[in-house]
Amino acid sequence: MKFFLDTANLEEIRKAKEWGLLDGVTTNPTLVSKEDMPFQGLVTEILRLVDGPVSLEVVSEHAQGMISEARELNKLGENVVIKIPLTPEGLKAVKILAQEGIKTNVTLCFSPTQALLAAKAGADYISPFIGRLDDISSYGMRLVEDIKDIYGNYGFETQIIVASIRHPMHVLEAALIGADIATMPFPVLEKLFHHPLTDIGIQRFLRDWEKVKARI
Ligand code: G3P
Repeated sequence: MKFFLDTANLEEIRKAKEWGLLDGVTTNPTLVSKEDMPFQGLVTEILRLVDGPVSLEVVSEHAQGMISEARELNKLGENVVIKIPLTPEGLKAVKILAQEGIKTNVTLCFSPTQALLAAKAGADYISPFIGRLDDISSYGMRLVEDIKDIYGNYGFETQIIVASIRHPMHVLEAALIGADIATMPFPVLEKLFHHPLTDIGIQRFLRDWEKVKARI
């Protein structure tokens, strides 16, 4: 299972990379808006830091605008993936970009049939938003299960990026289902390390090592 960071923060990206856990990055306009840097400079640095796919989102609402934006963004690096919303115009753009060899991540997916449409359009990645479904009392992870089944039934190669992850249980469930990728905020990645028995175990080993040291 690949770990992507859902962020545009350079410090978070550097840390995850140092830990050897960074397979890619996903951004969106909201995440980019939180960083106090000019867009072009920020994105160039993210693309340089990350040895893996980096999703950059288009903001046009019509296919032609999305395609123009995608072509420009794609020039910024070999690891660029164009994030496109799941609308008829978006999928029109995905189909054309796929023919041009430009990679796409179809975002804002909230139903299995939307995911089916994205795969048929030739999307490289689909991003079901789990947390936002949980927020409205729907079982978000059920969507991931359904997409996995549907893609398996027809041999679609579109990879599933479990997105809108809010806590470690989302990562666990995504892994149990066998999703290709989990994209998570940095605090969730940090939380995956923590277990009280690990902390207690370290303290005990260090305390006992003091006794051994006294005999060296
Ligand atoms: O990258 C998109 C997605 O992960 C957004 O998450 O927390 O805003 O629902 P959230």
